[in-house]
Amino acid sequence: MNTPLDSIRNILPVHVRNRVDGLMEAADIFASMKSPSVMRAIAPSAVRGLLFSAGKHSDTSDMPASHSAHFNWAYPHDHPEMLELYERAKLGQWNGSDLPWHTSVDPLNAEIPVAPIDLIDLNVAKSMGIKFEGKEHMRMVHSMASWMLSQFLHGEQGALLASAQVTESVKFYDGKLYGATQVMDEARHVEVFQRYITEKLGKMYHINDNLFVIIDALMTDSRWDLKFLGMQIMVEGLALGAFGFLYQSTKEPLLKELLKYVIQDEARHVHYGVLALKEHINYGISKSERNEREDWAYEVALLMRNRFMAYEVYEEWYDGTSVTRSQWRELIMNSPGMQRFRKTMFTRLVPNIREIGLLSDRIRPHYEQAGLGIYFAGQAAPEVTGEQMVTELDRESA
Ligand SMILES: [Fe+2]
Ligand SMILES: [Fe+2]
Repeated sequence: MNTPLDSIRNILPVHVRNRVDGLMEAADIFASMKSPSVMRAIAPSAVRGLLFSAGKHSDTSDMPASHSAHFNWAYPHDHPEMLELYERAKLGQWNGSDLPWHTSVDPLNAEIPVAPIDLIDLNVAKSMGIKFEGKEHMRMVHSMASWMLSQFLHGEQGALLASAQVTESVKFYDGKLYGATQVMDEARHVEVFQRYITEKLGKMYHINDNLFVIIDALMTDSRWDLKFLGMQIMVEGLALGAFGFLYQSTKEPLLKELLKYVIQDEARHVHYGVLALKEHINYGISKSERNEREDWAYEVALLMRNRFMAYEVYEEWYDGTSVTRSQWRELIMNSPGMQRFRKTMFTRLVPNIREIGLLSDRIRPHYEQAGLGIYFAGQAAPEVTGEQMVTELDRESA
């Protein structure tokens, strides 16, 4: 039903309507934050990312760091499980240059699609008056695949810099050794995604505003455990789900091979995050601090779930046309491919939030309301290795 506000909005020119829509969405994010301390922690990043789109105006961003670098001159082997991960990580190193880069990729070939062709569904689009002629739909699939992989790439750069910060600030000596392998892993991920995007897709998008907010928030927060929570559990956990989605659905062999390797590294990273946080959250902080982290994780999860709307693709295709930003959002929300994508993103994340102790009875109803309750019982990182994860993905898609 149309509200009086909708009626006013509908008579505005499309570009004004789009601006209002963007501001309303940002206001909505602030309004939905229930915890004042979470709001205080995220607000400066949200202003930079959502209101000023700081990630889009320049090719570079400087985020001031305020954490402490922690040294230990006694070199105690203080965490055997982290040491074991370190050994596994040394053995699991691979060289991005060895991937089959000679593979020829045609992102417009509907026979070997890079990403599912129903990421933008033709029938849903048609019902909204958006038509695709001839090769246009495959060009749209190409845009969506490039957008998705560009966000993976930007997330990987966030992971590269955040894992370096985390290696400095973590209190476990064994964690520092392991952390160094993650820094190398993330550098390799940046390398392979950037190479795939530039050599095979020929199209790169700016960082999504919501992803910028999350990276900005955790890079500038001085608390080491929030950095861990933000990067190792939230961003990496979502990425692991998203990589799994694309691994299962792509028909393009080079991308599939690339993702297979990346997923196995990421499984170790999330495992490390769980090891580092589990004890700390359950025994190392007060109840109010735990509640704050629980709220923070929930807000970040929603920020990612609700706002992964590919507006960067909208701006490229429809800015200045009669298609509005809110129509685009509806198209994204209702296209089966994007629905599966959003769903899969959470399969790895929610069980890890449970595992580290941030899914108490206080917050569970909120996750349930957001439709995320179905993931409560899933496998957490320590219960499944990267190899098992890939085998499981293969079995599901067979
Ligand atoms: Fe990574
Ligand atoms: Fe990672």
